[in-house]
Amino acid sequence: MIIAMVNNKGGVGKTVSSVNLAAALANRGKKVLLIDNDPQCNATSLLLGDMTPDNTLYEAYTENTPINKCIYPTQFGVDIVPNAQITSQIEADLYQDTARSYALLKNFAREYAAEHYDITIIDCPPSLGLWVIQAMSCADGIIVPIEAGSRFSLDGLASIYTSIESIRATKINKELRFLKTLVNKVDMRTSSSKVIIEKVRELYPDNTFETTIPTNDSIKQAELQRTTCLKYDPQSSGSKRYRALADELIALIDDEKQQPSLING
Ligand SMILES: Nc1ncnc2c1ncn2[C@@H]1O[C@H](COP(=O)(O)OP(=O)(O)OP(=O)(O)O)[C@@H](O)[C@H]1O
Ligand SMILES: [Mg+2]
Repeated sequence: MIIAMVNNKGGVGKTVSSVNLAAALANRGKKVLLIDNDPQCNATSLLLGDMTPDNTLYEAYTENTPINKCIYPTQFGVDIVPNAQITSQIEADLYQDTARSYALLKNFAREYAAEHYDITIIDCPPSLGLWVIQAMSCADGIIVPIEAGSRFSLDGLASIYTSIESIRATKINKELRFLKTLVNKVDMRTSSSKVIIEKVRELYPDNTFETTIPTNDSIKQAELQRTTCLKYDPQSSGSKRYRALADELIALIDDEKQQPSLING
């Protein structure tokens, strides 16, 4: 299954959730690929540290370098297709031919990822532009992390639904599904967290993960030290919740194999 981590709002936890969920899934024995489709390269620098990879999505998009040459193993049990900051410079050119550009990531990754990996996670930049349309064109489903602390966090969900509908309607990816919203940065001592969780469950009862991610300093510290929360402090509340999230996702995927209607649009 290929999952895109999408929210046009910045700083909601797309990257830390991509990385830590990927690591937790790998710890559960799944073969996991993370594609860093954000030219900010946060996931790349988190998982690869100071290493400068020769082949990134930039080479893939400009020189047609095949995916098997762009995959790097990491110490976290997850493989990564890295990005490079220079990729941001080709975005304007790619808009010249959207039909080709929207399909770039799909043509590059979809077949290979489906064949070689149980789960592929695509980390996306904070937009609904080209890179995210590419990711939505390639993915089976979308996970939308939202921030519990912000009263604006639910506002963007409707526009993400609209984007999914338009991707389906233009037939780029008719099968694309909204999997789940993931409520991040939860602090149960605050009423705002409780209100957001209640509201999102009320609005999207079938499309909200039971597991929520707390605001947890280990998640922040791990990011600063370029490691996963699971490695930095396996017993932290952040690590426990990412493991629970991995289990919830695995159960969802297993259920859907038996009952395809469970994951609905
Ligand atoms: N649950 C959490 N607890 C503590 N810190 C968190 C948590 N989730 C995210 N953060 C911190 O918030 C910041 C934003 O997180 P992250 O980079 O994952 O967001 P993003 O959605 O990927 O941002 P962007 O839109 O810029 O790509 C980071 O500094 C991260 O360490
Ligand atoms: Mg990010």
